[in-house]
Amino acid sequence: QVYTDYFIEDEDFDKNHFHYKKLSIPEGVEAQPLAVPPVLAPDKETDTDVWFTIESMEGESQILPGKKTKTWGYNAPLLGQTMVVSRGKRVHVTLKNSLSELTTYHWHGMDVPGPITDGGCHAPVYPGEEKQIEFVCDQPAALTWLHAHPCPSTAAQVWMGLAMGVVVTDDNEAKLPIPKSYGVDEFPVILQDRTFHEDNQLDYRADYDPMGVFAETPLINGVVRPFVDVTTQKVRLLFLGGSNRREWRLHFDDDLVMTQIAGDDSFLPHPVKMTKILVTPGERLQVVVDFANYKEGDVVNLYTDDFKLIEFRIHKFEKDDSVIPDTLFEPEIPEVDPSLPVRKVTMDYHNQMNGKMFAMQRIDMRQRVGQAEYWDVTNTNDKKHGMLHPFHIHGTHFTVVSRNGGDPFPNEYGYKDTISVRPGETVRLRVEFPQLGVFMYHCHIIEHEDAGMMAQIEIFDPDHPKTYKLMDMETL
Ligand code: C2O
Ligand code: CU
Ligand code: CU
Repeated sequence: QVYTDYFIEDEDFDKNHFHYKKLSIPEGVEAQPLAVPPVLAPDKETDTDVWFTIESMEGESQILPGKKTKTWGYNAPLLGQTMVVSRGKRVHVTLKNSLSELTTYHWHGMDVPGPITDGGCHAPVYPGEEKQIEFVCDQPAALTWLHAHPCPSTAAQVWMGLAMGVVVTDDNEAKLPIPKSYGVDEFPVILQDRTFHEDNQLDYRADYDPMGVFAETPLINGVVRPFVDVTTQKVRLLFLGGSNRREWRLHFDDDLVMTQIAGDDSFLPHPVKMTKILVTPGERLQVVVDFANYKEGDVVNLYTDDFKLIEFRIHKFEKDDSVIPDTLFEPEIPEVDPSLPVRKVTMDYHNQMNGKMFAMQRIDMRQRVGQAEYWDVTNTNDKKHGMLHPFHIHGTHFTVVSRNGGDPFPNEYGYKDTISVRPGETVRLRVEFPQLGVFMYHCHIIEHEDAGMMAQIEIFDPDHPKTYKLMDMETL
């Protein structure tokens, strides 16, 4: 079975909203090779441990012809490198801030303790400072990501470039017959959009919109008009919804089938074939595309709506007999004790959550560590004036139980941490936190989050009560 439509109705798409901006390519931009972020070299590695340094820095990037653009990145002028961690390792990270303002290092999709290791707004690293964190990576193979998360300037810092991929690998993935030569037949695809002002500079303040910032120029791994040279073999694309506001409605020429193999935090139990996929801010989707029916010299384009995003240039015939297996992963579905009340979370108008704005020192909910519970997440917007909000929880991977009482979308059966919720919709999640701490949950339209559509939960162990030092805006 091949699904041939987005699972979301046209009326709920961002393109129908106020302030939507169509994509365009600035004049004079030639096609250029897709940048593939290099794999971040560890400082040191043993059988059990690995050490990395991640430095936030300012830099300059040749994005458009003419003047270079001032950008920020992790160990790079823009975006960063790809950090690869194998499951089971103890990971030690030196977080270094070479910017002139404070930042934080949030591990979106990693099951790490909160609130310091998790790197939300309670974990500032000040300019010139270095901090150490460590955690054990114990979760299935996935593309997670690292991004800045200081309140309330997450959006502005991500806009400058502070986002990079963090790939978890495991034995299951190693056994799967899927493309895995990074930069050859496996490519991270960080989807973003930016507006360039005078002298090709970014100016987040000028573009600010509390409803979410759209920009005209697509930026794929930091490149405006990318092409990739591929063969007729299968190619694996790791899509990361890295835009502040924009949704990506992806499809190929000839309605080439994309076989989705993984979602945010794991492989899917079974591959799902689609010709159109939606990626909302914060989400990750891994797909395999097969160019076997093309020949040398062919060009196959990837689009978002009717806009050409990436050219895949077939430069060589290569035989590929690999078959994607029917079973990729077996998620563990935790039991939810039926006597537990269902948690209610609402995403509301005026950038509120449960009728409130985010407050750094307020704990909004408490949940016991290791105890699975149902969360009913409701988007209280109406269809006419509202919009889809991608809901994200730190420090956990959840499974989707239902959408308005019906089945989840066919490609939502793995572990996720970000889920699109349409106006008027309630999505039921099964949520269990493996680690202690204070964690945020919020809309991943980053302007909504910064403006207050965010709250926090304390994950506790009744036998070992803990207290946390929560920052407030003043003490920052
Ligand atoms: Cu991508 Cu609060 O996170
Ligand atoms: Cu997160
Ligand atoms: Cu939102």
